[in-house]
Amino acid sequence: MTQRRTVRAFTDDPVDPGAVRRAVAAAVTAPAPHHTTPWRFVLVESPRTRTRLLDAMREAWIADLRRDGRPEESIARRVRRGDVLRNAPYLVVPCLVMDGSHTYGDARRDGAEREMFVVAAGAGVQNFLVALAGERLGSAWVSSTMFCRDVVRDALDLPVDWDPMGAVAVGHPAEDPRPRPERTADAFIAVR
Ligand SMILES: Cc1cc2nc3c(=O)[nH]c(=O)nc-3n(C[C@H](O)[C@H](O)[C@H](O)COP(=O)(O)O)c2cc1C
Repeated sequence: MTQRRTVRAFTDDPVDPGAVRRAVAAAVTAPAPHHTTPWRFVLVESPRTRTRLLDAMREAWIADLRRDGRPEESIARRVRRGDVLRNAPYLVVPCLVMDGSHTYGDARRDGAEREMFVVAAGAGVQNFLVALAGERLGSAWVSSTMFCRDVVRDALDLPVDWDPMGAVAVGHPAEDPRPRPERTADAFIAVR
């Protein structure tokens, strides 16, 4: 698990699609509420689809930044920095489906139910990233697709109830991750 680090620079070496499928198989062993299986992994293998997705997401992002009132040169700088997906050899879009979720009809319990599924989606993605690390593949889980879900569904031709949960750039690491100070358990624990 500690081998998984966010990798944002990749070599040009292609990614073995079989390794990605093995990582998906590991991902879907994650825990989920009510014995559901709320994960879908869209493997973006068609270059044409990939370009369509990334171009549509860039347009949506630019539109958001313009609505924020940012100057054009600042928008161009921000958007250039967001190239981790475009520069990756392989892309995956993990999605959440709420199949099997309960409806209570009040905001508190419906909100809790949604959060249960979202955390289960996170558990699935984390499994996926750890399994990729086991395949000696680097990955970066980035948030962008969560901010333009309709655009992503449209570009990838996904059902309306598939909710994109970010995107995962996958590839062979071009550099070692920057060392990080060790985190001790004590700093994260409350004992009662
Ligand atoms: C839900 C989520 C969204 C993230 N979004 C981004 C992102 O948009 N861009 C990015 O460069 N990294 C993103 N990250 C990666 C974090 O920046 C990274 O996990 C953090 O810096 C810790 O580094 P590590 O993954 O190497 O431990 C995201 C991580 C998560 C879990």
